[in-house]
Amino acid sequence: MKKRVAILISGGGSNMVALARSMGKDHPAKPVLVLSNNANAGGLQKAADLGIPTAIVDHRQFDTRPDFETGLHKALLAADPDIICLAGFMRILSAGFVENWAGKILNIHPSILPLFPGLHTHQRALDAGMAVHGCSVHLVTPELDAGPILGQAVIPVLSADTPDDLAKRLLPMEHQLYPAALKKFASGDQTKVTFP
Ligand code: GAR
Repeated sequence: MKKRVAILISGGGSNMVALARSMGKDHPAKPVLVLSNNANAGGLQKAADLGIPTAIVDHRQFDTRPDFETGLHKALLAADPDIICLAGFMRILSAGFVENWAGKILNIHPSILPLFPGLHTHQRALDAGMAVHGCSVHLVTPELDAGPILGQAVIPVLSADTPDDLAKRLLPMEHQLYPAALKKFASGDQTKVTFP
């Protein structure tokens, strides 16, 4: 039986599209839900175009983070996912939420973790004088961007690079890495994926 995958997004959803497209006939998983905390996320329409059910749980409609997470939890329970992929989902999840789905949540982060957890990763890689930059897929644990690494891809940092240049060059690597890591994870194989 195929594993059921829910994908959580906040924005354009290019990683979500890469994940959804990768889950073809012979794949061990299938997308069952694309959920956004942002009603204006461009990825929602892309998911609908791909025929994937969508949901919105808008954090601004809740007074507290626990209330938001209760709403998120309920929407996820209704989709009964085996795996939850955070794909540009820009809300921090509490320890309680993560523990409810322990071992089932994956995230893609635009840095070579454990370097540069959190925001502004491209600028921080430049500021640190890095010769390489990259992205990581990891299991989500209560500590931000710190769970076991499932795969990483690297790109060179060129002398004239701006943060935008790095983001643009990294995104296609994210689109290769995340589907490859998900496919392995869904098959029960937690050996690391690397690119190139
Ligand atoms: C991606 O670059 C992803 O790595 C990053 O947000 C972007 C989402 O783009 N995620 C984070 O920064 C998580 N902390 P997308 O919506 O086109 O997939």
